[in-house]
Amino acid sequence: MKPFHQNSTPATGWMMAWLLAAATCSQGADAPILLRDVFKEHFLVGTAINRSIATGVGGGRRAQDQVDGDVALTKAQFNQITAENDMKWQLIHPREGADGYDFAPADAFVEFGQRHGMHPVGHTLVWHSQTPNWVFAGTIPPPESATGPTSEGSRREYAGPRTSREELIERMRDHIHTVVGRYKGKIKAWDVVNEALADGGPEKVLRDSLWLQIIGPDYIAKAFQYAHEADPDAILRYNDYGLENPVKIQKLVTLISSLQEQGVPVHAIGTQAHLNVSTAGFDQMDRSLSEIARLGLPIHVTELDINTASGGQRGTGADIGANAAATQGGQVSDADRRLADAYAGVFRAFVKHHQSVEMVTFWGVNDAVSWRRFGSPLLFDGDNRPKPAFDAVIRVATEARATSDQ
Ligand code: XIL
Repeated sequence: MKPFHQNSTPATGWMMAWLLAAATCSQGADAPILLRDVFKEHFLVGTAINRSIATGVGGGRRAQDQVDGDVALTKAQFNQITAENDMKWQLIHPREGADGYDFAPADAFVEFGQRHGMHPVGHTLVWHSQTPNWVFAGTIPPPESATGPTSEGSRREYAGPRTSREELIERMRDHIHTVVGRYKGKIKAWDVVNEALADGGPEKVLRDSLWLQIIGPDYIAKAFQYAHEADPDAILRYNDYGLENPVKIQKLVTLISSLQEQGVPVHAIGTQAHLNVSTAGFDQMDRSLSEIARLGLPIHVTELDINTASGGQRGTGADIGANAAATQGGQVSDADRRLADAYAGVFRAFVKHHQSVEMVTFWGVNDAVSWRRFGSPLLFDGDNRPKPAFDAVIRVATEARATSDQ
């Protein structure tokens, strides 16, 4: 039995969903067409949500009526949510000490999911990015080799005197026990370690992060052990990007097999799937999922989007700066049609691998709130209207059902 496949939506949520879907469906049909329904035999369909959606409060980049629309669309279409930022260390645990945690936004996120019958997923406990400097700070001078501009990941990372291995382990344990413990039983899956694999050639498996430099490679196993102690029933994921790249997949296999040999509780693989429209499609995703499935663990597609910005077509990386800045050159030509084709392809691969794929999460509700908004990478536009890519994805589900009914 797949642990994620039982779900129920409260009647009020369903009514809202029906009304909204009937109003927004591009095909003008009177029956609602909902992603979470059409794929219910296959996998959960979720989305990352920002703080405005979780709290329902507009302002800033999205006015109140736009946020109302974002909330309605989220409730209608999805049965799983991930906090886009509010559970990252920088946001949930910005200061050292007993009062160092800011739980309110994360609490609002979890309550939003519970209220509307959507599974909240926790993202993320240990990552080289969006982690406050105090976590790594101490009195030990950094090694000369670690402060140069060539040290991977260090450009935006803390470069001052460092804490010891023992103290960093202690900080990590406290953080994981506190955060996972607070949401025990409410959050069913956690991204325990995010993006620990190195980019580039096969010789270097692990990213040269401060976690690796200060603790050593066993920081990964320890993170999973602490999360398991805090909630033995939670599904613990290892999450990374670029798993469409055969070199990176081999690194994943090396890392996860080694953790499995040590008996470390890793329960699922998260493949982010921040894709580019030039390369995304059935073949690429089919190959990637086939390789990942060999680990014998469930697969969660955790951050799906497909960039159509011309400037975003260069690499397979998911570097935050490069992605957010990928605006030059506007969109590729015929972006809507190419996006629809690419989405149809990757969803055909998800359906093919549905025995492994338990969950597909879009990284954002619509193009306007996407971290790659200049690349219009999602199924809904900034007014929450479905794009041709939405229809293409729905068609994949319809075809899959027709085939299985035969
Ligand atoms: C991104 C968010 O979408 C942005 O709002 C934020 O400014 C930076 O992080 N991989 C991850 C996600 O695991 O947490 C990142 O989310 C995208 C890349």
